Amino acid sequence: MISHSTRVFGHRGAKGYLAENTLESIEKALSFQVDGIEIDVHLCASGELVVFHDFTLDRMTNGTGEVGKQTLEVLKKLIVNGGFQIPTLEEVLNFIDKKYILNIELKGKNTAIKTAEILDHYVKKHGWNYADFIVSSFQHTELENTFQINKNIPLAVLTKASVSGAIDVAKTIQAKIIHPNFALLTVDNVKLAQSQGYEVNTWTVNDADTISRMKQYGVNGIISDVPDKI
Ligand code: G3P
Ligand code: CA
Repeated sequence: MISHSTRVFGHRGAKGYLAENTLESIEKALSFQVDGIEIDVHLCASGELVVFHDFTLDRMTNGTGEVGKQTLEVLKKLIVNGGFQIPTLEEVLNFIDKKYILNIELKGKNTAIKTAEILDHYVKKHGWNYADFIVSSFQHTELENTFQINKNIPLAVLTKASVSGAIDVAKTIQAKIIHPNFALLTVDNVKLAQSQGYEVNTWTVNDADTISRMKQYGVNGIISDVPDKI
């Protein structure tokens, strides 16, 4: 059966159209009426969370070296390919203003504490609900730290290795969502995960055949560089 309620998440904004993890890329994704946006965060040297995928600046900016070793002042002066700026997590939150789900992937180390602090602030002071967020990571330590700090934050276990392994991790942190790479999925393991109470959001699904197959499997959500194609 084909699900008609698959949630659509723009991957790094709309990576297929504009420089990933920029406000402009997010704006593009929102123009496609997505349900949510996926972004990546790193902690920079001056203590802020910046929205950026790679651990190094070289591929996506005119800078070089590790993101985590630069201050926000330095990072803000860099030009992201195409003429954009690296946003902070707060800038993204203000931009999407609780109208969409925000999936924050804790990409860099030591991102859990600051993320939990910011999300708590936006719930208490800016009218967001915890259900507006999904905090995901491949790094189980960051997920575990988030769980210890604030048990209200919805957590998702990222995996490119094993659906059952992700569920094993999810059990330890009361996560109700798993984010497996699409290549791990079958109709049976999607149904099994869902029958055990887990939502399954898969990534990064861009081509028509895979989009169709994931919908036939009945995944809950699809994270895509081209969210208008879902
Ligand atoms: O969150 C899904 C996906 O973004 C994980 O892989 O490398 O694109 O951050 P990556
Ligand atoms: Ca990501």
